[in-house]
Amino acid sequence: MSEITETDSPVSVPAERNWVHLFRQSSPYINAHRGKTMVLALSGEAFEHDNFVNILHDIALLNSLGVRLVLVYGARPQIDRCLAQANITSGFHYNLRITQEEAMPYVLQAVGGLRGFLEARLSTGIVNSPMYGAGIRVVGGNVVLARPVGVLGGVDLCYTGKVRRVDTDMLQGLLAGGSIVLVSSVGYSLTGEAFNLSYEDVAASVAVALKAEKLVMFSDQLGVVSTEDGLIREVSVVQSDQLLAQDVLADECRNLLSLAASACKQGVIRSHIISYVRDGALLEELFTRDGIGTLVTDDNYEQIRSACIEDIGGILELLHPLEELGILVRRSRELLETEIENFTVDERDGSIIGCAALYVYAEEKVGELACFAVTQSYRRSGRGDMLLTAIEKKAKARGMRQLFVLTTQTEHWFRERGFEPASTDDLPQGKKITYNQQRKSKVFVKKLS
Ligand code: ARG
Repeated sequence: MSEITETDSPVSVPAERNWVHLFRQSSPYINAHRGKTMVLALSGEAFEHDNFVNILHDIALLNSLGVRLVLVYGARPQIDRCLAQANITSGFHYNLRITQEEAMPYVLQAVGGLRGFLEARLSTGIVNSPMYGAGIRVVGGNVVLARPVGVLGGVDLCYTGKVRRVDTDMLQGLLAGGSIVLVSSVGYSLTGEAFNLSYEDVAASVAVALKAEKLVMFSDQLGVVSTEDGLIREVSVVQSDQLLAQDVLADECRNLLSLAASACKQGVIRSHIISYVRDGALLEELFTRDGIGTLVTDDNYEQIRSACIEDIGGILELLHPLEELGILVRRSRELLETEIENFTVDERDGSIIGCAALYVYAEEKVGELACFAVTQSYRRSGRGDMLLTAIEKKAKARGMRQLFVLTTQTEHWFRERGFEPASTDDLPQGKKITYNQQRKSKVFVKKLS
């Protein structure tokens, strides 16, 4: 048997272009998404963009990873062109096309054309293409039952329709076979007619009917962009309602956000609004913790909360690098287990990205802020402030008058937040005994008003 030598330890992957690292980081999401149902909504405009071929490759990859996919597509610019060629002008009313009887064959022509195009492209399998070996099956049919919108404000919208019902049994059957299901913006009625629907409406209805894990809508923007705050990365359904009530979103954003939020209210777990322009947006949104577009959700994607015993692994992982650097004092798993109720954590999509502890010196009514850490990649993002606020609140609730902290390297951060320099004499009795003279940590105190 050979002795273990230096060279037996793993050689680390260079930091630049760290593909191995990135691929590993996405594995929790590969596991999470497998077997889940996702409804993707693509506008007719998306088909015409150069990036569309990349989107199809990424859809193929999702299919290979075992995601159950429904692809809902629109065809507005294509319908416009077909109508223009036939010299038919169609008016709009309340943002809906008025689909006259003579226009309907051209709607079917445009929508059918796109179906053929999609089926062809998803069949790609040539060597050197990312779809080599994918062997994708594409299916579809009369999934959406429609009814006419009828007369709105005195105007008959004719063959413009609304979703009446989605045949979920049929969809589930098709998805169970591992196929990608294509659903167009045309719905059928019991009278045997076809109706022209809004694809966004179809996508949201299908996602709700299937109780899908995700509804992903593609936009020409990076996501939901507000005139005040730029790209919004995460928004709860409650915040969505507030945003929609203000005048800060462009029409298209407003429409997508309102459908995304309403789908979440009706049981879709997460809705995403992402770009069809940016290469790889779909993969980045689905397989990284922070995504790249806008996430709409009713669950707690990120929350600051009291720690529980299940968090210990995550806390240890967070603290370890800082202990190695000597920034924090080493704590064993056993010690953490006994002290876990002192901890507050910042949990983001299942990972602990920050923590802080409060130790109470009841006699002096003084609290110690300790073990204060935020993961490297989330520093300077305001998370430290959120944790500090949570600890101050907890300390006040427990009747503390002041908070102190011992630090060797981050004195400025604390001073900027109202901590004043103090001396070891100011420490509570219990802390004086355990104060480590060698670390020479500085003491800072903040009065809690
Ligand atoms: N990848 C995760 C998901 O698919 C998280 C995405 C987060 N996105 C965001 N815009 N914050 O659910």
